[in-house]
Amino acid sequence: MRLDKLLGSQTDLSRKEARQVIKDGLVSVGDVVIRDPGFSVDPNAQSVTVAGTPLEFKEHLYLMLNKPEGYISATEDRTQKTVLDLVPPDLYRDGLFPAGRLDADTTGFVLLTDDGAFAHDILSPKHHVQKTYIATLAEPVTGDCLRQVRGGIELKDGTVCLPADVRALSEFEAELKLVEGKYHQVKRMFAAAGNKVVALRRTAMGDVPLDPSLAPGECRELRKEELDALRKRKN
Ligand code: URA
Repeated sequence: MRLDKLLGSQTDLSRKEARQVIKDGLVSVGDVVIRDPGFSVDPNAQSVTVAGTPLEFKEHLYLMLNKPEGYISATEDRTQKTVLDLVPPDLYRDGLFPAGRLDADTTGFVLLTDDGAFAHDILSPKHHVQKTYIATLAEPVTGDCLRQVRGGIELKDGTVCLPADVRALSEFEAELKLVEGKYHQVKRMFAAAGNKVVALRRTAMGDVPLDPSLAPGECRELRKEELDALRKRKN
């Protein structure tokens, strides 16, 4: 891999900044200072230091974000804030994107990664990882509404949803587990059942709950066991 590309992917430096840092003589491969941004390096076999700090090579990055309201699940937008705007510089790298979307007014667990194959796997219809939501509703949760959602509800446009695991948490709150990701699915399911979602929060992906210590807008790397749990769920 080119040295400037490695730095761009593993640090918060842009590719342009990485080139300058290399030209300034701040980057060593092994014990040798390398000033050529195009220098070819094998990060699995060679140690790279930037301004004296060893670079910890991670092929891919997996972040758990507690999304607040008002951010869209996209990588860039000309007018609106995106979930990537919430990633602090020490966790940011080129190529990060949200694996799956939450509406701008939905809060909770968003997984950000630069691993396209992983994202594809957990979102593909065959292996779709289960997602847990808590919906706050305008009207009380009725037994009839729960039965409709459990049975595979037909949306107003005729789309039929897979049966969903749903339970009432309180008079106006329901927890719902989905194994598919249709556009505005939770809101449309409750609308079809004659209710209205007034707030929606994703609380888990597969068996991995949203870390309660993450304040809205905060993110952290997924732990190895959390990533393993998501990977295992696919098989
Ligand atoms: N269902 C919705 O309606 N909105 C979301 O953001 C996620 C699931």
